[in-house]
Amino acid sequence: MEVERVQAISKMSSCMDTIPSDYVRSENEQPAATTMQGVVLEVPVIDLGSADEENVVRLITEAAQEWGIFQVVNHGIPDEAIAKLQKVGKEFFELPQEEKEVIAKPEGYQGVEGYGTKLQKEVGGKKGWVDHLFHIIWPQSAVNYHFWPKNPPLYREANEEYAIALRGVADKLYEALSLGIGLERHELKEASGGDDLIYMLKINYYPPCPRPDLALGVVAHTDMSAITILVPNEVQGLQVYKDDHWYDVKYIPNALIIHIGDQIEIMSNGKYKSVYHRTTVNKDKTRMSWPVFLEPPPELLTGPISKLITDQNPAKFKTKKYKDYVYCKLNKLPQ
Ligand code: SIN
Ligand code: FE2
Repeated sequence: MEVERVQAISKMSSCMDTIPSDYVRSENEQPAATTMQGVVLEVPVIDLGSADEENVVRLITEAAQEWGIFQVVNHGIPDEAIAKLQKVGKEFFELPQEEKEVIAKPEGYQGVEGYGTKLQKEVGGKKGWVDHLFHIIWPQSAVNYHFWPKNPPLYREANEEYAIALRGVADKLYEALSLGIGLERHELKEASGGDDLIYMLKINYYPPCPRPDLALGVVAHTDMSAITILVPNEVQGLQVYKDDHWYDVKYIPNALIIHIGDQIEIMSNGKYKSVYHRTTVNKDKTRMSWPVFLEPPPELLTGPISKLITDQNPAKFKTKKYKDYVYCKLNKLPQ
């Protein structure tokens, strides 16, 4: 069965001012009705290149406890490497449809990698205004190049360069988050799989939408990953839920946006908080984003770090295989 891509619906509806009813959110989700207007949220911005490590650890710890989201600058990834990643991703999504379908998620395939559009509707029968591409970029042993576009020709080089640069950022974040709650600097990364930690890239492609007041890109959620490191394009769209309201997040050119995901909340036994977020879409412009989810390998047992558990501070979460956590979350089963 042919899957309908949001990109195709966007093209069809570009000269109309309506969208299919599947994409019209319920009133309590519609962005026009639920976004705090006239304010952009300035989430903490942290200079990752600072020589004062103690201060960087303190800032990251506070941001991860109070916000679950922050941005990093001076992160060591060259602006050109980010621009190249964005360029090849955009070029892939601008290919003719049949060329993209070559790496579509095969029907009945259990993995997440591949080009696609979310197939199961959410509770309430609604869909998000977004297509995507998922593939692992690191470690090399987990990469399946079948799901990497062959076209544009520089796609592989750009993604490999980005993956290598990103490892330095991931290590710094992991170390700071460990030190911030009294662990040894290697502990949280080790608990996430150490050298087997998976770097899962997603490209979100949000085409223009005639009714951005009624639709959402990605519905409200927390990330399942340990940490998410995200590059957006210049089109506003990321929103964060804070103090009972939805806010647009202020972008800083060439900063990386960091989300604390569920696994860090669990491993820290609730000391860190995963961030509740969603995305909106634009009437005339295509929004894109490149989150990389740092995830434990599927078979790894993850749970609160035993050192953090005491009689006064018992475990708040179960210990289970990461793949079982994912299964329960995707199927909305209790954890
Ligand atoms: C997501 O949270 O899945 C997407 C975030 C974004 O597009 O900025
Ligand atoms: Fe997310």
